[in-house]
Amino acid sequence: MRKAKVFSKMVSIVEVGPRDGLQNESRNLSVDARFKFVTLLAQAGIKRIEAGAFVSSKWVPQMSGSLELCEKIARAQSSGLLSKNLSWAYLVPNEQGMQTAIQAGAKEVAIFVSASETFSKKNINCTIAASLLRYKAVIDLARKNKIRIRAYLSMCFGCPFEGKISESVVVSLTKKLIALGAYEVSIGDTIGIANPAQVRKLIPKLIAAVGAKKLAMHYHDTRGTALANILVSLDLGIRTFDSSLGGIGGCPYAKSATGNVATEDVIFMLHAMGYRTGINLNQLGNINKIMATELGHELPSRVAKTL
Ligand code: HMG
Ligand code: MG
Repeated sequence: MRKAKVFSKMVSIVEVGPRDGLQNESRNLSVDARFKFVTLLAQAGIKRIEAGAFVSSKWVPQMSGSLELCEKIARAQSSGLLSKNLSWAYLVPNEQGMQTAIQAGAKEVAIFVSASETFSKKNINCTIAASLLRYKAVIDLARKNKIRIRAYLSMCFGCPFEGKISESVVVSLTKKLIALGAYEVSIGDTIGIANPAQVRKLIPKLIAAVGAKKLAMHYHDTRGTALANILVSLDLGIRTFDSSLGGIGGCPYAKSATGNVATEDVIFMLHAMGYRTGINLNQLGNINKIMATELGHELPSRVAKTL
């Protein structure tokens, strides 16, 4: 009889609320409020946080001030106010963003490529091929400055402009991003349209191409399928998931995208199933209340309502 593969019970969470979450809010938060948000998340035990974006503030005004925020975080970390073990990433679309990241002392950046040609043009104003070429220069700069590169691949399960997205395109772009130098590719269900059967079909192909350790899953919860998709991903051996506090977020250039799966909902499910994350769920509940006041509306997380 063939032995079943035993996967680790440790799950890594990448908190994207301060970037993916806040980029879609109508209220622009001050740098101080954003700093407080990331500090509270770190205090709750989150070890990987995407704190901001060095993108054009004409395109995404909510992310302006990310340079100041990044410098504040770097200072807090070197003075010991924030643990040195925390890792902070910033979204970077081009060389200009990368130069800002270097100036700010960032240790990790995230590049973002789309599996949909139309979304690529709408989101970063260039084709997929042009974006890969652009990122080659970004990665060269990162290497010279010892900055780690994470990569996103968006619209992997369906696109509001193009509909179905080919699995082979997703697999081939994932391989390209790893070959370019990304240590991990976050596979995005940008508009929250993925279903568990689709996830069960795609993930083994991605694992065969680059290995489970180089993959993260980034589910938005637009249609309420994100937790089911995470469950299937866990069964297949994925151990890194992106989520946002309260379930805030979306993409300003994909109108049908709503928030990422809520960190509280993911942590509740994982802990109840015996997985470990090192994150304190009750503290997330308190942050949820603080952020609901900051943002001026209740946050979508279901679990937070029970805390
Ligand atoms: P562009 O207009 O083609 O850029 O935009 P350009 O090179 O022609 O420059 C135009 C102006 O932008 C110039 O300023 C540049 O200096 C400035 P001007 O001379 O007009 O005053 N500029 C910049 N400013 C600040 N930082 C920069 C930068 N680059 C140029 N890095 C660009 C191209 C990529 C800049 C623009 O399209 C952009 O910023 N896009 C970002 C869009 C974005 O952030 N979308 C949301 C994130 S993606 C997402 O949410 C999906 C994800 O969560 C995963 C998933 O869910 O699947 C990641
Ligand atoms: Mg997203």
